Amino acid sequence: MNEFLTSPHLYGLITGFYIIAGLCFIGALAGLSKHETAKQGNILGMVGMALALVATVLLMAQQNQLSTADVPHLGVAVLVVLTMMATGAVIGAWRSRTVEMTGMPELIALLHSFVGLAAVLVGINSYLQHGAGRDTVHDIEVFVGVFIGAVTFTGSIVANLKLSAKMKSAPLTLPGRQLLNLAIVLVSVGLGMWFSLVQNDHGDGIGLLPLLVMTALALVLGFHLVSAIGGGDMPVVVSMLNSYSGWAAAAAGFLLGNDLLIITGALVGSSGAILSYIMCKAMNRSFVSVIAGGFGQASVAADDRDYGEHREIQADAAAELLANASSVVIAPGYGMAVAQAQYPVAELTSKLRAKGVDVRFGIHPVAGRLPGHMNVLLAEAKVPYDIVLEMDEINDDFGETDVVLVIGANDTVNPAAAEDPSSPIAGMPVLEVWNAKDVIVFKRSMAAGYAGVQNPLFFRENTQMLFGDAKDRVGDIVASL
Ligand code: TAP
Repeated sequence: MNEFLTSPHLYGLITGFYIIAGLCFIGALAGLSKHETAKQGNILGMVGMALALVATVLLMAQQNQLSTADVPHLGVAVLVVLTMMATGAVIGAWRSRTVEMTGMPELIALLHSFVGLAAVLVGINSYLQHGAGRDTVHDIEVFVGVFIGAVTFTGSIVANLKLSAKMKSAPLTLPGRQLLNLAIVLVSVGLGMWFSLVQNDHGDGIGLLPLLVMTALALVLGFHLVSAIGGGDMPVVVSMLNSYSGWAAAAAGFLLGNDLLIITGALVGSSGAILSYIMCKAMNRSFVSVIAGGFGQASVAADDRDYGEHREIQADAAAELLANASSVVIAPGYGMAVAQAQYPVAELTSKLRAKGVDVRFGIHPVAGRLPGHMNVLLAEAKVPYDIVLEMDEINDDFGETDVVLVIGANDTVNPAAAEDPSSPIAGMPVLEVWNAKDVIVFKRSMAAGYAGVQNPLFFRENTQMLFGDAKDRVGDIVASL
């Protein structure tokens, strides 16, 4: 056994595992980018992670055997690692089984906070093991890794609290907040120079002080940065924190000399950044304006405009309208997820298609509460992929559509975004459902959507409201049909 663990062939085997795992992760990302291949993508990701875990335990065992320092007995070390892995796996399995689809973004934000915390601990541990001042590159790795990790840690906790409504979603705006952020960054740069350059000269071991002061400042920065961002921008923030957690992991990979962690961190970091960019584009917001915060301030709670009267429709009349239509588009949103209405929606779709009605879905890029939320729900209910279209693919077709069913969507179908420059969501591309002949909106009340903005669609001549839980009302229509 000892021979196996100390053999150079084992190192080759571990490197091989790491390369295959890295390729699996790249394949996983590629697979996840399309509905049709998402399942294979997920499986590739799991295979990659299993290989990575096996290789890492082997690596640890090898390092333990080769170490000349006073290290724990191999059996003890392996037992500790396996116990921690088993504990993590049990908690992970339990959370993933119990979490509601709508609670995913806050869970993801919480998981990012763990990555941030891990990066802080790895960085500080690396300093304690090697000290500062002997190697400038190592010092920079420690300092940058801890900084990104600390910002990610508190930023993700605030995102989690905002998404789970345990903290007010409105932005917290302190006077001179941008200056405060800038000051923290500048002071951190100064501390970084002290940590690495001054220590290089003296090597006197007081590097922990600038490192810990910077950590405290970065924790404040993470909290302050995300607190200043309103709830409407949280999807971008979560994906931005996803990106940060990737870079934090990559920095930890450099510190630990672990190539796979560097590859994985870089993949997460860059894919998170690309996703943030795509979402900013979908909301017509610049990345900088999102990070600078402030969106959603005081919202339009004070909107006392007279929008007129809304009209109501009942399920049997809606069923008749649908039965006589030749083209129907369904625009789902967060309410469909809350009501778990995707199953009756799928049933309604197949009934209408059986009657020869052309039924398609229009999916807004930020409908629901996480990227791809609607696609996952519809796939779960076995709605065929080829009738589920992106916003850009369907927006021009609303003019020729007989009936649009807006099922639990609100902000993503708000005409104010296109027509009212004073609206807080002005400029955000939306599904132009109001161009259809008839629009039926499924929701429980006249309450505003996620961004807290009134929706003039509800008062349009061609719009009728179908009040109640979306699952019940769609079920009623299916029954009537
Ligand atoms: P929202 O604007 O959130 O509106 C959802 C609507 O569903 C509400 O108006 C609500 O009205 C209705 N609803 C809730 N429960 C319902 C139920 N059981 N039955 C029927 N209706 C129900 O939805 P959206 O159009 O999907 O927009 C998404 C919003 O979330 C955007 O502002 C987006 O920026 C934000 N956001 C998106 C993400 C991502 S990445 N997708 C992440 C975080 C935030 P009632 O209360 O009257 O029923």
